[in-house]
Amino acid sequence: MQKQLLKNFAGLIEANAKDDLLLRQLEVERLPAHVAIIMDGNGRWAARRNLPRVAGHRAGAESVRAAVDTAARLHIAYLTLYAFSTENWKRPKLEVQALMALLKEFLRKEIRTLQDNNIRFQTIGREQDLDASVRREIEQARRDTETNTGTVLSVALNYSGRADILDAIKSIVTEAAHHHQDPAQISEADLARHLYTRGLPDPDLLIRTSGEMRVSNFLLWQIAYSEIYVTETLWPDFRRADFFAAVLEFQRRERRYGDVKTPEKNSLFVANLK
Ligand code: FPP
Repeated sequence: MQKQLLKNFAGLIEANAKDDLLLRQLEVERLPAHVAIIMDGNGRWAARRNLPRVAGHRAGAESVRAAVDTAARLHIAYLTLYAFSTENWKRPKLEVQALMALLKEFLRKEIRTLQDNNIRFQTIGREQDLDASVRREIEQARRDTETNTGTVLSVALNYSGRADILDAIKSIVTEAAHHHQDPAQISEADLARHLYTRGLPDPDLLIRTSGEMRVSNFLLWQIAYSEIYVTETLWPDFRRADFFAAVLEFQRRERRYGDVKTPEKNSLFVANLK
């Protein structure tokens, strides 16, 4: 199995000792099924180089390509990227336009790669408020990749975690009224089925770049038990080694979901028997 992982990166990592060393430490049986990323630091990356913010986003789009490629080669089943929040409309008009143009360019240029790597593309968020030209490109990419069975790439666009929950509540209440359903019967699973992320498992690993310790209104419901990994690396510098390092750290964590460790549980049990 480990050999398969090395094979998936054949020709790409041998020349890079860091990539190679990190990849060899990954446990293929314990890879996260769903990785979500808050891509942050494009502006700071540009400022450090005396470049306009848009140059940071353009460099960030390269990191998107690298992250999608790495996730597909690791056979990560779900990759979710936070590209544009509902709050991002407050940015200068030119920056918003540049971000939308980059997204369209990414979809047009990368569609072949998405196909070759069996990646299924979708978006999460209030897509209806996006410009018609962006919606057309999204629809095309979605349709072209809808039968792919590999990594599901979800790009969060015009996304807000609170809006996600609010829209789910509106939809669930409407549905419950229609079916004369008792509100007391509504379960967490029902709500999850009405979120934009319906059909996706909750993220196992949430990565945030550029060192900020915030979740910034991203997947608020879904990250209840996600392992959070924050790196100082700015998004435009985030490459394969950074992805591997995040997964490695995830594999070192012990996930208890509010429970206690099994040995401790056993010791309590033994204590009770005495
Ligand atoms: C945060 O950096 C980044 C964004 C708001 C946009 C993310 C967009 C991309 C990576 C490029 C295009 C996306 C795709 C899917 C092709 P920031 O501008 O908030 O950085 P700062 O905090 O340093 O100012």
